[in-house]
Amino acid sequence: MKRYEQLAEEISHQIAARVLRVGDRLPSVRQASQAHRVSRGTVLRAYYALEDRGEIRTRPRSGYYVTPPRAAVPPRPLPTRPSTATRSVDVRDFVFEVLEAITARDTVPFGSAFPSPELFPLQKLASAMSSATRRLDPRDMVEHLPPGLPELRRQIARRYLQVGMSVDPDDIVITAGALEALNLSLRAVAGPGDVIAIECPSFYAALDAIERYGMKAVEVPTDPSDGVNLGALADALKKHKVKACWLMTNFQNPVGSSIPEDRKRDLIELLASHEVPLIEDDVYADLYFGENPPKPAKAFDKRGLVLHCGSFSKCLAPGYRIGWTYAGRYARKLDREKLMTTITTSIPTQAAIAQYLGRGGYDHHLRTLRRTLEESQEHMRQRIVRDFPQGTRLSRPEGGYFLWVELPPHYDAVAIYRAALEQKITMLPGPVFSPQRKFTNFLRLNYGMKWTSALDDAMAALGKIVSESRA
Ligand SMILES: Cc1ncc(COP(=O)(O)O)c(C=O)c1O
Repeated sequence: MKRYEQLAEEISHQIAARVLRVGDRLPSVRQASQAHRVSRGTVLRAYYALEDRGEIRTRPRSGYYVTPPRAAVPPRPLPTRPSTATRSVDVRDFVFEVLEAITARDTVPFGSAFPSPELFPLQKLASAMSSATRRLDPRDMVEHLPPGLPELRRQIARRYLQVGMSVDPDDIVITAGALEALNLSLRAVAGPGDVIAIECPSFYAALDAIERYGMKAVEVPTDPSDGVNLGALADALKKHKVKACWLMTNFQNPVGSSIPEDRKRDLIELLASHEVPLIEDDVYADLYFGENPPKPAKAFDKRGLVLHCGSFSKCLAPGYRIGWTYAGRYARKLDREKLMTTITTSIPTQAAIAQYLGRGGYDHHLRTLRRTLEESQEHMRQRIVRDFPQGTRLSRPEGGYFLWVELPPHYDAVAIYRAALEQKITMLPGPVFSPQRKFTNFLRLNYGMKWTSALDDAMAALGKIVSESRA
């Protein structure tokens, strides 16, 4: 056996004996070469061999990490098959009941919509807030109406350059989080009685908005790996007088899918051929695990039909409530909707985020956050593989912080949710993502936290609750 093969075997044994666990970082090539008294080339060949066998994987500029055993990687959930009829929506009471229960502080937050607050640079934001408000011209406090503070819009426009998009800051409208951006966008393009095409399953707030504004939804199947099914969307556009689409193109909530770039282009062509605007909900875009940021569908929009909605709530400043729509030709319409709803977005918080972005350091924060999320996903996946019933299917998102878990049929997600809550463990049961309360055997789990042994124990307890719930 060559020296590098021996070294690969030694490391493999450590992984099998769980001395090195899933998500652990291997020593750097330099450290390993010193520790084993071999050349760096030998270490690299050993690492490459382990990588080929799927036991470790590299992360650019970060190192080599232990991955879950290949045999243990469960299949993804199956694509959905919703009915093609339009329907009015009624999800509210159940969603509110669940959302209220999962925010208690003494619970394990697998049901939360946010990553753990300790992953955010709250001190730096506080300092930006303090210096920005001291510098504000008093007239800024009363003069700034929609679309929002010019400096913040400029900073957001600059961030679009990272995906090769050149954006005019005047086309951006600042809102109180993405949820307001989405609601204003929906009102700008549709009214009561109109049909909106949505994904199945869908983010519960999209369902709620459609219900509140007296619109109707047509559900389009969404594949857990590559997003909305374009054939089914084309059929829906032919069959119904669809007024707008509301889709998540990157790291869909809850299934975690992302639409590949060429299909984003096809999606935009399809919608343009029907003159149907797209409300693109892209709040998780900055939380990608790959080398490059995913492009939004808006990047391929030549006709100005896409209202691209983003937010800092998930990746920088939850609670600050700053989001935006890059609304293009709809921008002035959105200004009016905004003015008549909440007048303007809080000026001090806009100024604080603009100040933070202007100081630099945001990309560094994002890199650290993404790494934490990717590691935690691996830990959570591993527990599911170990502790959940045979036949469980699991999404494999390449960004964001949700896993979509399909239990075998006959498992009741709502019963599991209630039993887990008694043990102070939260999660979201599948039916909150469906106007017909489908997905009765699905759970959405949040892994957006720094992994600890307490979280590992909570996942083991959840696995027990799930397994026993069948009895
Ligand atoms: C898919 C999706 N869109 C929008 C939002 C709302 O974002 P914000 O907190 O910025 O309003 C959320 C938050 O849960 C979400 O999951």
